[in-house]
Amino acid sequence: MSNWKHKHIIDLSSFSAEDYKEVLQLANRFKKLPQAGARKLPALQGRLIATLFFEPSTRTRSSFELAAKKLSADVQSFSPSSSSLTKGETPLDTVMTYVSMGAEVLVIRHSSAGVPAQLAKYLDQKNKKVSILNGGDGLHSHPSQALLDLFTLTNYFGNGQSTPGSLYGKTITIVGDILHSRVARSNLWSLTGCGANVILCGPQSLLPEDFAKFADKPPSGQKEDPIKRRGQITICRSLMEALKNTDALIALRLQKERMSENLISNLDLYHHEYGITHQKLESCTKKIPILHPGPVNRGIELSSELLEDNAICLVNEQVSNGIPIRMALLYLLAATNIN
Ligand code: NCD
Repeated sequence: MSNWKHKHIIDLSSFSAEDYKEVLQLANRFKKLPQAGARKLPALQGRLIATLFFEPSTRTRSSFELAAKKLSADVQSFSPSSSSLTKGETPLDTVMTYVSMGAEVLVIRHSSAGVPAQLAKYLDQKNKKVSILNGGDGLHSHPSQALLDLFTLTNYFGNGQSTPGSLYGKTITIVGDILHSRVARSNLWSLTGCGANVILCGPQSLLPEDFAKFADKPPSGQKEDPIKRRGQITICRSLMEALKNTDALIALRLQKERMSENLISNLDLYHHEYGITHQKLESCTKKIPILHPGPVNRGIELSSELLEDNAICLVNEQVSNGIPIRMALLYLLAATNIN
């Protein structure tokens, strides 16, 4: 029996322990889909899912589309540059076009924070039976990426069996451009929600002090935090110091396209202080898995050698895990039909 209560997935601040458990359980099942014979499930046969990416994407969009196809859904995708947006059509009118064609789930990415939530509110007011799944909005949130990170980490710590409990009490370091990262913001909700402690690591210009209080209370508009006791968030400016106490590390891309001013004076210096290399990992007393949501700036956040070392670097595994996680999310929204 599903306890799923969300019509839309906009942000992970409203996810309960049960929600994480349900998503991971389903992703575990979808990951074990047979690799030969019938490689698809008929679960969403004939249902329409639209991916509306108003901002560029490689992994997230292809992963959602593949996930939808593996559940036998029909998929419509949209490219801003070849659409009527170029003729002045608004995102809302674009969305209504796909709703009128019968789409039941809209995966939306937009460069402005809050757009998926506003669209969801509008569609609810109009009593439309359609779910919005946030594929990344501005600096706000990227729930499916944080959930696939959670799936990858819980699989790692649970030795192939992913449950939220395997993260309880672990320390996860997130290093890099936290200020501009919607992935980090979503990671903070999901990791602390599963009882992990998070060390945020980076220079002052990319990691303001108040991030330590990020998950202290739910965002405005949300009455309460469904998680009774979250893991803690601390800030550490030294990567070498953070590495001493960490069980896993998530590196983030320097998002130069979102920096309004030059926040990093020298990329070599950044790599020297915050880039991950085999040499720096030698100081750790245990083997630490390295994650990165991609795209990676090779030689800046991660050395090329490390990126290609699949024994430590789980970047490719994250991409593979994105498919069962997104299958789980699409399935929960389309098949449980909370309208
Ligand atoms: C991230 C994004 O778009 O927020 N990438 C992704 O979805 N895999 C992170 C990034 O762009 O650096």
